[in-house]
Amino acid sequence: MLNLMEINTIENDTGKVVRVLLVDDEDSYRNAIARRLERRNMVVSQAPGGAACLEYLGDNEADVVVLDMKMPGMSGLETFKAISKYHPGLQVIFLTGNAAVAEGVEGIKAGAFDYLSKPIEIDHLAGKIRQAWELKRLEAAREQDKIFRRRLEKRMIHTQRLASLGTMSTGIAHEINNPLAIIKESAGFMRMVLDGSGQMPEKEMLFKGLDKIEKSVDRARRITHQLLGYVRKQGHELTPVDIRQLTEDTVVLIKQKTQAKKVSVQWDTEPEHQMLMHTDPFQVRQVLINLLENAVDAVETGGQIRLSLDRKDQTVCLKVRDNGSGITPENREKIFDPFFTTKPNVSENESGTGLGLFVVHKIMTGLSGSIHVESEPGHGTTFTVCLPEWQSN
Ligand SMILES: Nc1ncnc2c1ncn2[C@@H]1O[C@H](COP(=O)(O)OP(=O)(O)OP(=O)(O)O)[C@@H](O)[C@H]1O
Ligand SMILES: [Mg+2]
Repeated sequence: MLNLMEINTIENDTGKVVRVLLVDDEDSYRNAIARRLERRNMVVSQAPGGAACLEYLGDNEADVVVLDMKMPGMSGLETFKAISKYHPGLQVIFLTGNAAVAEGVEGIKAGAFDYLSKPIEIDHLAGKIRQAWELKRLEAAREQDKIFRRRLEKRMIHTQRLASLGTMSTGIAHEINNPLAIIKESAGFMRMVLDGSGQMPEKEMLFKGLDKIEKSVDRARRITHQLLGYVRKQGHELTPVDIRQLTEDTVVLIKQKTQAKKVSVQWDTEPEHQMLMHTDPFQVRQVLINLLENAVDAVETGGQIRLSLDRKDQTVCLKVRDNGSGITPENREKIFDPFFTTKPNVSENESGTGLGLFVVHKIMTGLSGSIHVESEPGHGTTFTVCLPEWQSN
């Protein structure tokens, strides 16, 4: 049975009174210090050695431990290491032998609050204990604040996810229902004609009906395609990527669209010959396609798109600059919202889904990157996407 002596008589009010654990192998010395600290309104418990100290802390709480450095059995430093490991919030003040500065410094290096050399001046010790207690309370408050913030962030992310899931589902249902309604209507018209219940229309009318069906199917496919491109690749496939090469390959991919409008796509300044980074090439390509397609849609026939790649502070930034219509400040607020589009008729057969930038934003967030837009209505727009050079799982 360990010799643990509880001499505290004052009620343990943890908010107002500092709880001290005094650890020293010299009984009379320890008793004397304890009595004098109690007179200074502290709650003092005692332990005659390192093992007793740890046993006490296993079952009881304390704010500050005053620990003799030189004790038989477990030394002060060993005891301190165990305290730091199992009770990290506790503050420790070492008591060292006369003129044992090196020992005290060793204690501070190990992470103790401070040390005092014996013989100690009791008010000096009481003052140190109060300072250590203040620090402990400050650190506990900071820790609480951190936990609170973390919980709040988690809850906010969850709420945002639910909200965006709701917006998305409503949007998808709406956007898919539109083409479905058109298909249904056109099919109904053709059935009527085949049933002989209506007048046989001109062949041209039938082709118009078929056109409507095909356009609606295309639109629904574009929507699911955009969304799948982002959802399917949620689990990143991270590999080394030459971002310069990837950008140039992507420009080739949309060549049909650029050539149809005689749009030139060029490097603003030539990037490094090979620009390696570690990321998900499929998602980055999707981002590039969506930004480039938007730029092509925004410019007049013969318009220009300029690209640049920069590497700084372990971040790679790609700029897509066009000299197109620009974005009004009012629309600027909405461009990342799902289904926001100003393109009722991108081309003869297509209208915008309004999912391009939404997907870009989602991908960039997933890859710990950022997206930034600058635009001058009537003059052009620059989208800048930045990614960490090294993406880890
Ligand atoms: N480079 C740009 N210049 C001018 N406006 C742009 C540019 N990029 C995006 N926008 C605006 O942002 C809107 C949303 O873009 P987003 O890519 O999300 O959808 P979309 O291009 O309309 O449809 P989709 O991507 O399916 O073709 C566009 O309709 C357009 O108004
Ligand atoms: Mg787009």
